[in-house]
Amino acid sequence: MNEPTNDPAAGQPARIAEARWRAVIDAAVDGIIVIDGAGTIEVFNRAAQQMFGHGEAETIGCNVSVLMAEPDRSRHDGYIRHHLDTGERRVIGIGRAVTGLRRDGTVFPLRLSLGEMDIDGQKHFVGILHDLSQRTELEARLREATALARIGEMAAVIAHEVKNPLAAVRGAIQVVGGRLPAGTTDAAIVKEIIARLDGLNDLIQDLLVFARPPKPKVRPTDMRRLLSGVASLLKRDPAFAGLEVMMAGEPTAPVPADANLLTIAFQNLLINAAQAMHGRGVIRVTLSMIDVWVRVEVADEGPGIPAEIMAVLFRPFKTTKARGTGLGLATAKRLVELHGGRIAVLSPEGGGTTVTVDLPSAEAAT
Ligand SMILES: Nc1ncnc2c1ncn2[C@@H]1O[C@H](COP(=O)(O)OP(=O)(O)OP(=O)(O)O)[C@@H](O)[C@H]1O
Ligand SMILES: [Mg+2]
Repeated sequence: MNEPTNDPAAGQPARIAEARWRAVIDAAVDGIIVIDGAGTIEVFNRAAQQMFGHGEAETIGCNVSVLMAEPDRSRHDGYIRHHLDTGERRVIGIGRAVTGLRRDGTVFPLRLSLGEMDIDGQKHFVGILHDLSQRTELEARLREATALARIGEMAAVIAHEVKNPLAAVRGAIQVVGGRLPAGTTDAAIVKEIIARLDGLNDLIQDLLVFARPPKPKVRPTDMRRLLSGVASLLKRDPAFAGLEVMMAGEPTAPVPADANLLTIAFQNLLINAAQAMHGRGVIRVTLSMIDVWVRVEVADEGPGIPAEIMAVLFRPFKTTKARGTGLGLATAKRLVELHGGRIAVLSPEGGGTTVTVDLPSAEAAT
């Protein structure tokens, strides 16, 4: 009698079948993991290997909990035991969102759907894992955009409601102050009140520009001239007297732009640079043409931007300064984008920050 296992030809179909199944499992876009009743990994397909950064050889035979973050990691053996003892299904056939642990120690969100099978009287479990990182990231960005829009709306309403009474209070105080004899303590107090009101008015103005930028009045704008204007505005501030703004680069095509709005944008960038250098040193402003785009680079010799700030740089009200509002970069970005431009910040390890603004020249539109 010929035993099927002794006949090389008889084993062939089984091997082909196995190779075929393996190919199917490895071609799957989602991760597929099979474990036995003790939690030991038996199958770990290619998508799972990519997801977790673990090779197949180092994973087969390990307990599946190595792929989990706490608290599931320490509890997983208990989950399986509970199911095997009671038959109760908490995840099997239902699926749930879980957190995966990559080989490099980072975690990521995934959707796990779990099935159960009997092979030769032994329980095995098959998990299909769908990586949710991209979706979660997209959702986070959408949430941020929605939150930004809300902040903008709220800021605009508050700014608008505060602006008029503020102007009225300032006017009234000025009248009262005018009646006080000059040089008295009371006159000094009134002067201080007016200075504070002006500060508040500036803040409201900044809020309004950020939240509801006016419709740009577009004219062909020479960026070199505009930037020289911003530089001389900056030099007028006594705090920045020890500062030099060096203009460099090539002549550039005119940019269809609202000069007032772009002045506000670049003013914010130059003030940030000046503040980072504590009012002394050189800010380099370089102009160039990149295809039909006019590129403006503002580079400072300050300490640079820490990584944790980099991640939230353009978020309104994010500031590391005692007297900052955190609206500078958010506003600059908004105004640059209003002109169809883009803004990027680079802060290499050794210090110094370069902000690059690309604006479409008149040719870009044609
Ligand atoms: N050139 C730079 N060098 C170092 N850090 C910077 C630079 N530009 C921005 N930052 C960092 O980014 C943060 C946000 O800047 P942003 O201009 O938006 O707000 P701010 O300067 O703090 O306040 P505001 O501009 O409203 O007065 C700053 O607090 C600072 O930490
Ligand atoms: Mg600023």
